[in-house]
Amino acid sequence: MNIIKLNTVDSTNDYIKRTYKSLNNLSIVFANQQTKGKGRNNHNWESEPNKNLLCSILIKNKSIIKKGPILSLLTAVAVVKTLSRLKLTDIFIKWPNDIYIKNKKICGILLESKSFDNKIEAIIIGIGLNLNQTKFNKKYLATSYKLEAQKEINIKNVLSLLIKEFKNTVTNCSNYISFINKHNFLYSKKIIVTINNKKVMAKALDIDKTGALKVKYLNKIYKINSNEVNVIYERT
Ligand code: BTN
Repeated sequence: MNIIKLNTVDSTNDYIKRTYKSLNNLSIVFANQQTKGKGRNNHNWESEPNKNLLCSILIKNKSIIKKGPILSLLTAVAVVKTLSRLKLTDIFIKWPNDIYIKNKKICGILLESKSFDNKIEAIIIGIGLNLNQTKFNKKYLATSYKLEAQKEINIKNVLSLLIKEFKNTVTNCSNYISFINKHNFLYSKKIIVTINNKKVMAKALDIDKTGALKVKYLNKIYKINSNEVNVIYERT
C-alpha cells in the first residue's frame, strides 16, 4: 500500500477527493494534523496535532467498491482487531461505524465517495483513532488509547497494524457479521430510529448479513440500513 505522509492538511479525506485520479487503489493518506477535519453529519473532527491517528484509505478497485455500505463495517472490524492486538478490552462497534471502549468513543469512520456519470469511481474511508490525546471537549464522551492503557503509543506503528488488519478484513471478509455481533454496542439498547417516516423508540437487535441493523418496534422486526437513518441511542 502506498502511504502519503503529510504534516498538515485540511482533511485527509478532502486531500484524496482532490487527487484520487492520480493515486492507486489502496493509497493511504496520513496526517499529523488536520485544519478542517470532518466528522459525519457535517460535524468537525477535532484532534490535537501529533496526538492521534488521522488517515484516509482510497478504494478504486471495482470489486471492493461493490461491497458498498458494508465497507464501513469491515473498517470497523479492522479497527477492533487492531485495538485488541494492542491489548485493549471492552471494545464495541456502535453500528454502523463508531468504535467504543466501554461507553466512550475512541474512533470514528467517515466514508465518502466520488462519482462520474452516476458511477462510483472511488470510495474514501477516513479514520480518526484517538491515541495519545487525553483531554477532550466535555460535550463528547470520548476516550483514547492513552486514557485506557495509561501509556503512550507510537502512532505510525498503529497505522501499520491497522493497514495489515484492513487488508486482511477486506480481502477475506467471510466471518465478519458474527464478529460484529459479538461486539455490537447497540444490542438490546433502546434507540431512536425512523420507521415509516416517523421517529420512534425501538429496541436494537443484531446486525444481519447485509450489514443492516434489526430493530424491534411494537412486536415487529424492521431492518435499518446505515444510509437511511441516524441512530441515536438512549443511555440506560
Ligand atoms: C465521525 O465519527 O463523525 C467520523 C470521524 C472521521 C474522522 C476522520 S480523521 C481522518 C479523516 N479525515 C477527515 O476529515 N475525517 C476523517
